[in-house]
Amino acid sequence: MKVLVTDPIAEEGIATLRDAGHEVVTGYELEGEALLDAVGDTHALIVRSGTEVTAEVFGAAPSLRIVGRAGIGVDNIDVDAATDHGVVVANAPDGNVRAAAEHTVAMTFAAARSIPQAHGRLADGEWAKGDYLGREVNNKTLGVVGLGRVGQEVAKRLDSLGMDLVVYDPYINEERAAQFGAELVDDLDDCLARADFVTIHTPLLPETEGMIGAEELETMGDAYLVNCARGGIVDEAALAEAVADGPVAGAALDVFAEEPLSPDSPLLDVDDVIVTPHLGASTEAAQENVALDTARQVLAAFEDEPVVNALNAPSVDESAFPRIEPYLDVADTAGKIAAQLLGERISGVEVGYEGDIAEEDVDLVTASALKGVFSPLEYEVNAVNAPQIAEDRGIGVTESKTRQAEDFRSLVTVTVTDGDAELSVRGTLLAGDDPRIVRIDGYRVDARPYGQMLVARNRDEPGVIGLIGTVLGEAGVNIAGMFNGRETIGGEALTVYNLDDRLSDDAVDRLLDDDRITSVDRITLDGADADR
Ligand code: NAD
Ligand code: MLT
Repeated sequence: MKVLVTDPIAEEGIATLRDAGHEVVTGYELEGEALLDAVGDTHALIVRSGTEVTAEVFGAAPSLRIVGRAGIGVDNIDVDAATDHGVVVANAPDGNVRAAAEHTVAMTFAAARSIPQAHGRLADGEWAKGDYLGREVNNKTLGVVGLGRVGQEVAKRLDSLGMDLVVYDPYINEERAAQFGAELVDDLDDCLARADFVTIHTPLLPETEGMIGAEELETMGDAYLVNCARGGIVDEAALAEAVADGPVAGAALDVFAEEPLSPDSPLLDVDDVIVTPHLGASTEAAQENVALDTARQVLAAFEDEPVVNALNAPSVDESAFPRIEPYLDVADTAGKIAAQLLGERISGVEVGYEGDIAEEDVDLVTASALKGVFSPLEYEVNAVNAPQIAEDRGIGVTESKTRQAEDFRSLVTVTVTDGDAELSVRGTLLAGDDPRIVRIDGYRVDARPYGQMLVARNRDEPGVIGLIGTVLGEAGVNIAGMFNGRETIGGEALTVYNLDDRLSDDAVDRLLDDDRITSVDRITLDGADADR
């Protein structure tokens, strides 16, 4: 497989991929048309914050399976477009948290003690001892906006340096804040007004974009602002003005709305604003961590194993994956058969789990069933985009679970409906993970699902199966296997055939000409019959 790396990552990540036998190509200057060309035959793309992975990029990358973000923020990746194209987006959210927190603390002190400014003047030969009177953090209040992974690490460190903590984060509760010795406030302004130092640790989202503007800076008063989260959260022009003309005491920024920061930025004209070029995660340890985490996720995607930090694919615990993996295929196949048999506009899908499988986290199995249902209709469908396709088409998806499984250890049933009619296909695994379809539309069967299949409904009368055999024989189609299911003698029967070839339209018409045969459906599944 080909892996394209468009932002520098640690060599350990690249080596891991090469050692696993994959081709790794680096292209750190790629953008625009050159990037679109380069992703044309790429199976995995690895980026940091420098590459904009737009819908156009996904459109130009038909083989792409995964975009690995060697870091946390994915605001440079169009995750919705990735989902539409069935591409997994995975970040590496843990490896650089400490580095980002340490940088935040360093920036807090650097701003409070004017370290970069004093260094610059001394480097120019000026002993400006009398010009700097800094502020201690001890006994001051730290306002933390966003108490997630990085915010928590910052809180721990600055709490231990004698600061009182107030937190604004609408998605956590008081107990969580209290674990970090912090008081949770309901209102951003309350947090800003009380803080002597404000540190931002939210993602860049529509709701956080521009969250700190002129009014909020006014509310902060004579405090310091530190932003090592994302550019765009703070209004840079308003901040430059608020520090230059008051009331804000100073600011320390590692991230900017446009990166690299333009030399014309008003921030660079203000002495009490200090800046670093997005260095929060730039430690050896952090870069090695995120590069390795990202490489492992790319390998998992190549092996169809769970991608631990996938942001747009159903997740599954790595330890549980071996138990559910065989059922992915059962669900996919049951979905394919059900959709092809109903043959109508599907408006709802129910996936039922019985027995041991009902104890598991089945999100991925349901996604696999949806993949099966949509595969006759959609060209590029996989477990990543199948739930999205259902949502886009307004198709209701439900799951049901029961711990009892009639006659089997585990059963997966996919039921599709067009609003009127409903059709169910139930599958299981026999010993040795041998998939079987054990019920179709209420009929008990024992069918091996693979290759070309034929499902015929007919009156349960002598001679009908013989007729079907004759028509298939005359059409030159060999029968590899067959199972006849009937509920009552002389009632309706449902017969499932495994065929070596697809049956022609003429042969289907010949079968339907016999009034004892009520329906004939051809099903195409994956897999050859050679080893069955
Ligand atoms: P996280 O998802 O663990 O935490 C984010 C927190 O923000 C969550 O607790 C969430 O509830 C909170 N939040 C969301 N919306 C909010 C809102 N409107 N108001 C207040 N709080 C809100 O993320 P993280 O891993 O802690 O990363 C935090 C930020 O740091 C991200 O923007 C990330 O990209 C950035 N980051 C930057 C660097 C760097 O190099 N400078 C390195 C790592 C992370
Ligand atoms: C991140 O989101 O992880 C950081 O921005 C670090 C980076 O990749 O530079």
